[in-house]
Amino acid sequence: MKLLVTGGAGYVGSVCAARLVETGHEVVVLDDLSTGHADAVPEGARLIAEDIDDVIGPVLAEGFDGVLHFAAKSLVGESQQAPAKYWQGNVVTSLRLLDAMREHGTPRLVFSSTAATYGEPDQVPIVETAPTRPTNTYGATKLAIDHAITGYATAHGLAAVSLRYFNVAGAYGRYGERHAVETHLIPIVLQVASGTREKVAMYGDDYPTDDGTCVRDYIHVVDLADAHLKALANATGGEHRIYNLGNGFGFSVKQVIEACREVTGHPVPAEVSPRRSGDPAVLVASAERARTELGWKPERVDLAGIVRDAWEFTQSRSQEA
Ligand code: UFG
Repeated sequence: MKLLVTGGAGYVGSVCAARLVETGHEVVVLDDLSTGHADAVPEGARLIAEDIDDVIGPVLAEGFDGVLHFAAKSLVGESQQAPAKYWQGNVVTSLRLLDAMREHGTPRLVFSSTAATYGEPDQVPIVETAPTRPTNTYGATKLAIDHAITGYATAHGLAAVSLRYFNVAGAYGRYGERHAVETHLIPIVLQVASGTREKVAMYGDDYPTDDGTCVRDYIHVVDLADAHLKALANATGGEHRIYNLGNGFGFSVKQVIEACREVTGHPVPAEVSPRRSGDPAVLVASAERARTELGWKPERVDLAGIVRDAWEFTQSRSQEA
């Protein structure tokens, strides 16, 4: 298929773009490089380094079989401080994309949604029919886009799949996580291990969990990318399907730090800090629907293995620097 990958110079987008190229698809990456990196675009993919808002019509006029829409503002904390940036950058831009797809007859869409659409869950593991009550602007904007996609599928026959990611981690060779301002737990802990940060702050140890720290479902970025390939192949005209993507079991902040200590051999000093606003205590996915309907099964579920891949990536970057 000829595919447009928005945000294909970012972390998840670049891994997916690489897997798409490897499996024989023709890939065009559209990324304004505001948070992505040109050298993360895989060989064999064409990069259009422009803003979606400026060029999406003419780009889609070339003719594409589908769009994988990763480009987004995706920091929970920032979304609480600067909501306009999120409503504009996520919702308004996605509506432009949807409309351009309708205008140019682009038949398929795979959208990066998020566990943050659910907010504080009543039950874990979280199933797709759980209530959606986002606790932050980031989750609210992604949920709004999900609703818009449903409308486009119903009214205009779009074949759409939203994938609700839980906590993506790990790396795929030279494709990994490198944000200018890092907020995610595993890369932060690995910065401590590699000596670029002194210690890690654990945001709260008084949550109703076994050790008092928040529990998350960490999914390997390669497993996540493989789900996108399956979603693309299974997308059906006029339907908008939603799938949670996680491993189905949770690790606490303390357990993650411990796994990083074991993998890196570094003591990783950690101290308890106040809670971070908008953090639910436990987010663990039921990915049963993705398993049964897409035939997807995560293969890289071991936390130490996920951390090891991220650590190898971190080390390779620090050698290049
Ligand atoms: N944490 C710390 N110290 C840090 C960084 C994080 O204790 O320095 C804690 C957080 O409070 C949280 C856990 O580690 O409890 C994981 O935090 P991340 O920032 O790594 O990830 P989040 O769970 O906040 O968010 C991620 C994605 C969101 C997505 C969410 C869904 O960034 O886009 O997973 O589970 F919505």
